[in-house]
Amino acid sequence: MQLHILHTAPEFSRDEGSPATCRRCILWREGTQAVVGEGPRGAPLMLVGEAPGTEEDRAGHPFVGPSGVLLRELLGEAGVDPARVFMTNAVKHFGYQLRGRRRMHRTPGQRELQACNLWLRRELEQIAPRVIVTLGTTALKAVLGERLAIVAARERSLAAPEGIPVIATYHPLALLRAPAQEEKSALRRTILADFGRALRLAGT
Ligand code: URA
Repeated sequence: MQLHILHTAPEFSRDEGSPATCRRCILWREGTQAVVGEGPRGAPLMLVGEAPGTEEDRAGHPFVGPSGVLLRELLGEAGVDPARVFMTNAVKHFGYQLRGRRRMHRTPGQRELQACNLWLRRELEQIAPRVIVTLGTTALKAVLGERLAIVAARERSLAAPEGIPVIATYHPLALLRAPAQEEKSALRRTILADFGRALRLAGT
């Protein structure tokens, strides 16, 4: 049987180490393993989320939990083939607070974002996407290096320090958590429109 390897994880230089051996912040003690980006080299689109959740932490792959399932559904609906997208996160280790015995996701702080930015920048260099789509404010901050509200970001032409255009949109988790159906539908339309813009900008 012939194996077609479509997805490659990025390579990191020996000198810098790798997310797997990284001790630049304390998150390595909380997570089971580092979760790096996945997708084809030369992918026209790079999607950046916040950090792996509990399912991603166990599996060692990004976006395999409920928000990943929704993300793939939204990509498909917007006409984006998820297999041609490189998916990663601003932070590579899962951080959590215990609620009873449940590990509840904890939003990474500034120190963790800064410590992990090296790995995100390496992924950007290697994949060199035509367009970056950030999911949520943490991802947007990690990519741009400055905090910007999504509402404001959606009205501006943005670029990463590498010169790659950035489309800012909401995290699928916001849609999952939206309490009212009306809000869910509005968020869904917005995310779909943003994926469509990213697709056109990438010229695919
Ligand atoms: N949420 C994210 O931002 N990234 C994942 O990989 C999973 C959930």
